[in-house]
Amino acid sequence: MLAALRTSRLILRAFTLDDAEATVRICGQRIVAATTLRIPHPYSLADARAWLGMLPDLAASDRGVVFAITLDGAVIGSIGLTVDRPHSRAEIGYVIDPSHWGKGYATEAARAVVEHAFGTLALRRLFAWHFSRNPASGRVLAKAGFTREGSQRRQFLKWGRFEDAEVFGMVRGPQQPGEPRHGDPLPAPPPGAPTSRPVAPSPPTRTTPTCTLRPLRPEDRAPALAAIDRAGILADALPWTGPLSSPAPANASERAAQDPLDLAALAEAHRRADEGLLLAIDNARGSLVGLAALRTSRAHERAEIACLPIPGLPDPTPLAAAGLIDIAFHDLGLKRLTASALSLDDAAPLLALGFRHETSLASHARIDGRFRDVLTFGLLRGEPLAPR
Ligand SMILES: CC(C)(COP(=O)(O)OP(=O)(O)OC[C@H]1O[C@@H](n2cnc3c(N)ncnc32)[C@H](O)[C@@H]1OP(=O)(O)O)[C@@H](O)C(=O)NCCC(=O)NCCS
Repeated sequence: MLAALRTSRLILRAFTLDDAEATVRICGQRIVAATTLRIPHPYSLADARAWLGMLPDLAASDRGVVFAITLDGAVIGSIGLTVDRPHSRAEIGYVIDPSHWGKGYATEAARAVVEHAFGTLALRRLFAWHFSRNPASGRVLAKAGFTREGSQRRQFLKWGRFEDAEVFGMVRGPQQPGEPRHGDPLPAPPPGAPTSRPVAPSPPTRTTPTCTLRPLRPEDRAPALAAIDRAGILADALPWTGPLSSPAPANASERAAQDPLDLAALAEAHRRADEGLLLAIDNARGSLVGLAALRTSRAHERAEIACLPIPGLPDPTPLAAAGLIDIAFHDLGLKRLTASALSLDDAAPLLALGFRHETSLASHARIDGRFRDVLTFGLLRGEPLAPR
């Protein structure tokens, strides 16, 4: 059972199913849903019960904690952490009943939950984002000790409009040698309108002067699995959430040895579900040199992309990224691409193509036991690709 947290004016306690009506009273307000991503609108008692019903399992499985924010015994809001234990990090989110806005309650609750996260939960990094048009949330984060880490241009599609987002982070624990410092934020472009397209009957392909992007073949399986095993943060671009499936196997090669996994069929299933692409990269001589991965977030008309090298071979990004970008914007009709790297040097091939550095997420990933800053990059459709 989640222990209650006390602040000078508030008690933060576990929710129970008896809080369903209070949850609807707060989350059912359009002005509350308007600046959040996960609260549906309209919001029913059934929505509240479903959400409250899954909270105990979330806490028991160490995937998150959510507190009811109470004032004199009445629920006036909620605040929670979505925990990513392998990276020792969590995302914080909160809402306050509009009749109590502007009295410092969100800040007071956030400060208590920050201490809970770094203390009881022993996490190393907290992060949060808010729509750029919601500066009150940025003030809460700043007052609770977060640092602004950058802006993500047109990151979310909310109620038919693209939204820019501001990203905040906070790290406790000794800074490690070699961790990069925060990057500069970038100006926001004007918003555009969303589009959607049906999934094509067959996988996209490209042949450019430097490479061919093509569907995987059975004989690609062993090198492709080795590339996936070594993907590190680039695994975020794979068209599924774990290395191969959920629950994630510890090691894709080990899993494949026990299981006659058909990687080409898996990639095709994810493509057909519009979750992303996994294509082979052949160099100009026709040899397999890497994988082009793309994970779609269709709700926001964007995708995370990466080019994964076959172990022992150089980074195939300079060969293949332009073709992958072309597929993403033209074949898939996406509006925004994102990519991640551990350093500006690693991202040089993407920067050379026109990606912009958008955020520097402090200690965001744990790789080989070491906390590393993650830099994120964005490219919008219609932005000129830099000459190569
Ligand atoms: C964001 C939210 C939680 C803030 O709750 P709150 O209890 O009013 O927050 P606090 O009183 O602790 O702090 C609010 C700060 O924002 C400031 N603020 C409010 N409106 C603002 C605006 N339009 N522009 C700039 N700052 C603003 C307040 O002045 C205050 O800062 P200050 O103490 O420096 O004066 C509340 O507005 C809310 O629930 N919004 C809807 C849900 C939501 O957006 N959740 C966050 C999703 S990221």
